[in-house]
Amino acid sequence: MIEVVGLEKIYSAGNVATPVLKGIDFHIDRGEYVAIMGTSGTGKSTLMNILGCLDKPTAGRYLLDGTDVGSLDDDALSHLRNRKIGFVFQQFHLLERATAMRNVMLPLIYADEYPEDAEERAERALAAVGLADREQYRPNELSGGQQQRVAIARALITDPEIILADEPTGALDRKSGLEVMAIFKKLHRQGRTIILVTHDRAVAENAQRIIVLEDGKVAEDGAVGSQRDPDLELERLGTGEDKR
Ligand SMILES: Nc1ncnc2c1ncn2[C@@H]1O[C@H](COP(=O)(O)OP(=O)(O)OP(=O)(O)O)[C@@H](O)[C@H]1O
Ligand SMILES: [Mg+2]
Repeated sequence: MIEVVGLEKIYSAGNVATPVLKGIDFHIDRGEYVAIMGTSGTGKSTLMNILGCLDKPTAGRYLLDGTDVGSLDDDALSHLRNRKIGFVFQQFHLLERATAMRNVMLPLIYADEYPEDAEERAERALAAVGLADREQYRPNELSGGQQQRVAIARALITDPEIILADEPTGALDRKSGLEVMAIFKKLHRQGRTIILVTHDRAVAENAQRIIVLEDGKVAEDGAVGSQRDPDLELERLGTGEDKR
């Protein structure tokens, strides 16, 4: 579903060129759950922006479902993005003055065609992340974990095949982080492809596979021996069995 070949990204500012991605190759199948790790500044977000069709590589190829993304113009790119990809970020990027409902409906408002059942879809998406009772709350009336769940509901509203999450637990406490990971687990079970960036090895072990970037290249790419179970960890946390 996702294939990158010799992917490179060089940022140019004035006459200074900064090479960030220096030849990345991998293949991600439909329905895979992959974590991307690597030290700060190594190009994880840069790679995610390219995978999410928000940015184009300087060299190399990115094939999304067989389409060479590099050959698309901006309109075609944003069309592909809106149809296939849902984003979740570390800082939730919610509109402060809009209710949870309104925030979740935003991608539909920007869609090619506004669906008649937008409100019902938003209600369902909020219910799916356990926030049916918070529809009319604004971001500053929600906890960080709840805000991130609104952001996930917003990512789900267009029913994307691929979820790209850049440090989705980075701003959350452990319990809220586990709740978010439990939602990702559910989305993966539904057959979605999930690509998650994290600094935290424990978070990465929720995935089936970990790709480690180092100095703009793939340093490691391997299967996770035994995937963590966020539901189980939440249960332990609830019973006080887990003192961490
Ligand atoms: N728009 C940009 N213009 C110029 N340089 C950029 C731009 N975006 C990122 N960079 C540079 O690219 C490098 C990689 O940045 P990137 O955000 O991809 O790292 P990261 O791995 O996501 O780091 P972190 O873990 O801190 O989020 C950094 O050195 C950064 O300064
Ligand atoms: Mg980053």
